[in-house]
Amino acid sequence: MTPAPLSRSTNTAVVGLQWGDEGKGKIVDLLTSQHDVIVRYNGGANAGHTVEVGGERYALHLIPSGILNPGKLNVIGNGVVVDPEKLLEEMDRLRARGVCVGDNLKVSDRAHVVMPYHKEQDAALEEFLAGVASDERGSLAIGTTRRGIGPTYADKIQRSTAIRMGDLLDGAHLHDRLRVICRLRSAELKALGVNTEPLDPDALATKFAALGEQLKPNVTDTVYALHGALAQGKSLLFEGANACLLDIDHGTYPFVTSSNCSSLGIPPGTGVPGAHIHRILGIMKAYTSRVGAGPFPTELHDETGRLIRERGREYGTTTGRPRRVGWLDLVAVKYSAMICGATAVACTLLDVLTGFDELKVCTSYRMRDGSENDRFLPDARMLAQATPIYRSFLGWDEEIRDVADRASLPANAARYIEFIEEALNLPITMIGVGPDRRHTLVHA
Ligand code: IMP
Repeated sequence: MTPAPLSRSTNTAVVGLQWGDEGKGKIVDLLTSQHDVIVRYNGGANAGHTVEVGGERYALHLIPSGILNPGKLNVIGNGVVVDPEKLLEEMDRLRARGVCVGDNLKVSDRAHVVMPYHKEQDAALEEFLAGVASDERGSLAIGTTRRGIGPTYADKIQRSTAIRMGDLLDGAHLHDRLRVICRLRSAELKALGVNTEPLDPDALATKFAALGEQLKPNVTDTVYALHGALAQGKSLLFEGANACLLDIDHGTYPFVTSSNCSSLGIPPGTGVPGAHIHRILGIMKAYTSRVGAGPFPTELHDETGRLIRERGREYGTTTGRPRRVGWLDLVAVKYSAMICGATAVACTLLDVLTGFDELKVCTSYRMRDGSENDRFLPDARMLAQATPIYRSFLGWDEEIRDVADRASLPANAARYIEFIEEALNLPITMIGVGPDRRHTLVHA
C-alpha cells in the first residue's frame, strides 16, 4: 500500500525506537515517493537496511534507501562515517543490478573517513576487552560490528588524527596527515597486541587518494545542497541508522554505538535545524531484538525466542550474527518515542507473532529492591537489574500477510496494536505484515 502524497514541503524523519533492525529501510523506501531528498545523518557501514522490492532483496549499509527509487537525491550527511571502499562496493553492487547511482548520490566533504586502522583498532579493542576484562560482571566488550565506527568517531572528537572525505581530494595534504597519524596508530595497535608491520603512510595515502578520486563526483558541501533543496520547497526524508537505544548519549551506555542515532542527531549530522523536521516516524518491531552485548530485560532464551528468531529471519544484515530476541518492551519504546519526539509510529514484523497462543508486553520493571518502575533505565548497569513485569495478550493463528487493511486484522492482532497505541499515546500509522513493500498497512 502506498502512502498518500504530502504537501510538498513536509520533512520527515524515520528513526528506530529499539536497538536497531526495526525495518527502517523498508519504511524509508515506502515514504520515499512523498519526498525529494533522502538523507543519512549518522552511523556508517554498521547499519544494514534491508529493502525488498518486487521479490528482490537489497541490503544497504551506507547509501540511503531512497536510491532504489529513480529521480530522488540521496545524501550522506556530515554526521556519517564513510568507509570509501565499502561505499564504492555498494555503488557497484547496485549498478550491477540496474539501479542508477550517479549524480543522485551526494556525500558530505565533512563526513569522516573510516580508515583500515580504525577497523583494526575496533577488532583489537574488542578482543582485548573480551580477553582481559571478563569477570563475574561479564565482559566489557561491546560486541561491535567491527566496522571501525567507534575509533573513527573517536578521531572526529580527537580532531588532529581525523580524516574527512574532503581530505581525500588533496593528495599532498592527505599524505602529510597520514605520516603523523600512522606513527601514532602503529604504536597504539602494538600496545593492543596487534602483531602487524607499522602502518605505511605512503601506501595508505596513494590508496585513499585514488578512492577519493573515484568518489570526487559525489563529494560536495551537502549542507548547502540541503539548504538549497529546502529553499526550492523540496521535501527531505531523514533516514536514521542504528536506533535510539544505541544512541551515544541516550542509549544503554556503554553498550551503544558512537553516534546520536535518535532524531536528535539530525541537526548536527546534516546542518539542517530541527525546526525543519515536521514529522518524526518512530519505527518499532512488534517484539524486540538486539545484536551485540548489553542488557535486554525481555530477552527470551527458550523455544519461543528461537521461533521468533527463525520466523523474523533475525540474523544481522551487516555481520550475519544471530540476533537476540524477546518480547516487546514498551517501557523502552515509550522512552525512545519521548527522546525522538515521535509524532507517529510504524509497527513492523507483526506477522512474525502469528501462531503464538500468548504474547507478552513489558509495561514496567521490577527492581532488585522490589519496587516497580515504569521509567526506562538508559544506564546499562541499572537496566541489568530490571526484571520485566508483563501484560499478557491472546495470540492469533490467521495468516496476516495478505490482509488488505488494518480493519481486516484478526481481532487479537488489532487488540495488540491498539494497546501499544494507547500506551504510547501515538497513532500507529503503518503496520508491517510481511517482507515486501506491498506488505505494509498504511492508514494516515
Ligand atoms: P558499533 O556501531 O559497530 O560500534 O557497535 C556498537 C553496538 O551497536 C553493537 O552492539 C552493535 O551490534 C550495535 N549496532 C550498531 N549498528 C547497529 C544496527 O544498525 N543494528 C543493530 N545493532 C547495531
